[in-house]
Parts: sequence; C-alpha cells; structure tokens
Amino acid sequence: MIAEGLSAALRACRHLVVFTGAGVSRESGIPTFRDAQTGLWAHYDAEQLATPEAFAADPDLVWGWYAWRQALVLGCEPNAGHRAIAALQDCVPKLSVITQNVDGLHQRAGSRDVIELHGSLFQPRCAICAHDAPSAVLQSGEKIPQRLPPPRCPECQGPIRPGVVWFGEMLPEIPWQRAAEAVQACDLLLCVGTSALVYPAAALPMLAAQQGTVVQINPEPTALDEHATFNLRGRAASVLPQLLAQFQP
Ligand code: OAD
Repeated sequence: MIAEGLSAALRACRHLVVFTGAGVSRESGIPTFRDAQTGLWAHYDAEQLATPEAFAADPDLVWGWYAWRQALVLGCEPNAGHRAIAALQDCVPKLSVITQNVDGLHQRAGSRDVIELHGSLFQPRCAICAHDAPSAVLQSGEKIPQRLPPPRCPECQGPIRPGVVWFGEMLPEIPWQRAAEAVQACDLLLCVGTSALVYPAAALPMLAAQQGTVVQINPEPTALDEHATFNLRGRAASVLPQLLAQFQP
C-alpha cells in the first residue's frame, strides 16, 4: 500500500534519482555483501580480495574470485525491480540511475544511462597502464571461486585487473561528479537495496535528504532510516513495480 503523500510526490516529480545497491539484484540470485547469512563478506575476506594490496599480493586469488562473480552474474537475469526502474524512464521528465553495483543488470533491463560508481565486472583493464582489456577474458564458468592467473596486457604485459573500485581506492571522477550533480538537482530520490554504510557513495542519499524527498526501499532497517522521508519495508522486486503503477492511469 503506497501512502497518498508518496503517490503525489512521485507524480509531481520532475527529476527522479534512483540510487541502488546490492539488494536490488538479490532477487536475481546475486548475493549482497553484508546480509548476515548469505552476504559475500560473511564468507569471503574483503581484505584478501577487494583491495589493491590483495591483488598485488595474490593476483591469481583475486582474479579467480572476480571471474567467478562475473560467471555468476552472467547466469542471472534482471528482475522485476530492475525492469521497473528501466520503465520509469518513460514516466518522469528526467531520470538518473546511480548504482553501486558492478553487475550490469540495470543496463540489461533496459536502463539507458547508468552511472556506475563502483565500476563494472565487465570492464577489466591493465593494472599498470590502464589499457582497456576485452571483457571476455574474465569469465571462468566455475561454480565456486578458483585461483586463475590474470591475463597480460597486450600493450605493456602488466596484469589485467577487474574494473571495479576496491577498498582504499578513489571513485571514478566523472561518474562521481555526475552522481553528485544529479542528486543536488533532483526533487525525489529512491534509495533501493543498500545498507548505506560505504562512503562516499552513502553520502548521496543523505545529501538528497537535505533538500528533497527520499524514499527508501529495503526489507531491513539501515543507516538511512532516520533521514528518509518514507521507509518502505519490502523487497525491490515487489515494491518497485508498485511505485511504477502510481504513474499509470
Ligand atoms: P550491502 O550488502 O551492504 O547491503 C545490501 C542491502 O540490501 C541491505 O540493507 C539489505 O537489507 C538489502 N536487501 C536485501 N535483499 C533485498 C531485496 N530483495 N530488496 C531490497 N533490498 C534488499 O550492499 P551495498 O549497500 O550495495 O563495494 O554495499 C555497498 C558496497 O559495499 C558495495 O558496492 C561493495 C561493498 O563492499 C565495494 O566492493 C567497493
């Protein structure tokens, strides 16, 4: 059940931002990071897998883990939440989709312009000279992570690394600027499936809350609860189609 005030705010919205985290892809079968039982960080050590130091120390371990994640994502499909976000493109004068996810599922659902704050599993590059490497090289098809030596850069022979942002790294400058501008210009932000714990990305919904309406969709409480105008406790694939329906006559 969508509150009357929220329904009116959605229909009046001129610039909508949808900001997403791992929860939006949960119902596609992709694990989140911090969910207690199923989250990736409950089973794997981020310090051994998701830092530049980890890649320098053991590139085969890190490359194999990301190859496994890429194969996992390629075996999954966008869900009704991703599709509802794509459909919102035709419902508001301006829509900006900003994601912390690296899985490409928004694009596969039809979202045309997605700001990827944490990079992509599908854009590996050379760790030394940053030369773009073909995405196909990452695939492993393994059911569980296996060690896998990273391919070598055709330009400088350096190791190819996953095109994601690791802990301790800066966010890519242009996506970050575009995201900050969109959030400052929007009148409503939908925050979907993120624990809102990882900065600087988590600052974006907080910033939006200072000047506009923030609607959070998450089955669990998060760090954003006290800042959000509306907290919708539910799953992305159920709640987003209900929000989309508010735009239909
Ligand atoms: P988290 O794993 O921290 O949070 C996922 C959120 O999704 C939680 O708040 C869940 O309650 C919620 N959730 C679970 N199922 C859901 C569903 N069906 N519908 C809606 N919400 C659901 O993931 P992120 O917040 O995305 O960064 O994590 C942020 C960053 O931390 C990631 O981009 C990644 C990670 O470490 C890097 O690797 C740099």
